[in-house]
Amino acid sequence: MAPRRRQAVFLVVWAFALVATSSMTSAAIVQHTFDVGNLTVSKLCQERVITAVNGALPGPTILVTEGDTLVVHVLNNSPYNVTIHWHGIFQLLSSWADGPSYITQCPIRPGHSYTYKFTITKQEGTLRWHAHFSLLRATVYGALIILPKSGRYPFPTPHKEFPLILGEWWNRNVIDIENQAQAIGVPPINSDAYTINGRPGDLYPCSKKHTYKLKVVHGNTYMLRIINAALNNQLFFKIANHKFTVVAVDASYTTPYATDVVVLAPGHTVDVLLTTDQVPGAYYMAARPYNSAQNAPPPDNTTTTGILIYDKLPYTSPIMPLLPALNDTPTAAKFYFSLTSLVGSPNWMPVPTKLDEQMLVTIGLSLSPCPNAACQFLPNVPTLQISANMNNASFVFPKSLSLLQAHFFNVKGIYTTDFPDQPPLKFNYTDPANSQNNALVFAPKSTRVKQVKYNATVEIVLQDTTIIGAESHPMHLHGFNFHVVGQGFGNFDPAKDRKKFNLFNPVIRNTIAVPVGGWAAIRFQANNPGVWILHCHLDAHLPLGLATAFVVENGLTPSSTLPPPPPDLPQC
Ligand code: C2O
Repeated sequence: MAPRRRQAVFLVVWAFALVATSSMTSAAIVQHTFDVGNLTVSKLCQERVITAVNGALPGPTILVTEGDTLVVHVLNNSPYNVTIHWHGIFQLLSSWADGPSYITQCPIRPGHSYTYKFTITKQEGTLRWHAHFSLLRATVYGALIILPKSGRYPFPTPHKEFPLILGEWWNRNVIDIENQAQAIGVPPINSDAYTINGRPGDLYPCSKKHTYKLKVVHGNTYMLRIINAALNNQLFFKIANHKFTVVAVDASYTTPYATDVVVLAPGHTVDVLLTTDQVPGAYYMAARPYNSAQNAPPPDNTTTTGILIYDKLPYTSPIMPLLPALNDTPTAAKFYFSLTSLVGSPNWMPVPTKLDEQMLVTIGLSLSPCPNAACQFLPNVPTLQISANMNNASFVFPKSLSLLQAHFFNVKGIYTTDFPDQPPLKFNYTDPANSQNNALVFAPKSTRVKQVKYNATVEIVLQDTTIIGAESHPMHLHGFNFHVVGQGFGNFDPAKDRKKFNLFNPVIRNTIAVPVGGWAAIRFQANNPGVWILHCHLDAHLPLGLATAFVVENGLTPSSTLPPPPPDLPQC
């Protein structure tokens, strides 16, 4: 047989095999046991005890096919409260399995367990799971990959796929760090390193031996599933001499976008195709922060590296990519603003155009009362602590019951439904002169949520403020993907900016890095009853109060009604 003919036959057989498997396998039940416990690791020349899942950092990769039911038995053998969140999973009719502590469940106490059970429908791509209690997600995280049921991607099948999880590492116990920061009303201290698949890389002490190495063959196309699991930093990512084609973000297909740099905020994932078309050799992949924060102390500005190695060559010195400057907002904005969704791709949804709810929500830092009057954020003002807010409400997590239990069992006194649709005070949100404005800086603490009808279409314009200091906040909505219909710098101007909304193919995400000193407009349909937190995915800002939640009411049918909680739902 002529080689070309043979290849064609092979392709047909292969395509048939794919179709046959996908139509024959009905949805599977995928089971995992997560044993959360102490793990001793040595990094940056120090031995540390961390909290980890199944003795590994990162924890296990979960691989499912769309339509599968995932059952994860979480045994908490650690000394801390813990929950696991499945970041980006819709949790249709399974809000009880979403995982944010005190929002949809009380934490799993030490020595206790909880089984997360949910079906994954209408989504495919790269997501991840992580702890949703204190700073534990620094070491309790892993990839969650949803393969298409059809067995096909809307782009040529890559030769191989690799998850690349970018992480953030502290030399100290992260629970202690969080508790100490809260006790004196300041943000947590900077990290000591960033990591790629748990490894800091060649530029850190005592790390060279363990640098992550990705072995490739010349002339192939690979898919990298890049996940930003860092806590407090957006990251630039590059590979020396190589270009990427972005094909998906946040498990949502994009119009292919060619770039040599990727930017990911905590909570983002980016799938790229990488063609190994360079001179065989060794090339560094590297990540370091995109830091937008103004009037703030500098972040951990170290660089994590891994090595792309061609054809098992012995290598000496890999080539280092030139990373953008830490404050390179134009490069970050160019990347973020260029992404569009791939119209008609699997699970693609048109933009809601008839809106039931329209909100303008300011996001930013603030000051709030210091409970013990011993706070150290402002010299000489121990009665005030650093805080953060949305529409001037600084969110407080309940302690005795989760919001979802309070909603479901109609328990009063846990939250109020008066989260405002508009800022209580209109002012020039992005005027740097307002950063020190005493009349604007104070935000009271409360647990205010927004309640909406089942299937309501919601538009939120998220508006960054310069109070204390502007910063690009990565806002993450649980339970839904949203369309990013517009974004820009400065104050949102409805007359001018609405005209420029992209209602045709805006990018679809679960986390939006609102431009520093700017705004982003998102839309979603509240087609899932339950309680869904919307929060800044910088862990430094979540406990400060940069959060609110949507309570989505039941619909009128059983298929739009949240079932009761599982019997093992943890108690507070
Ligand atoms: Cu990935 Cu509420 O978080």
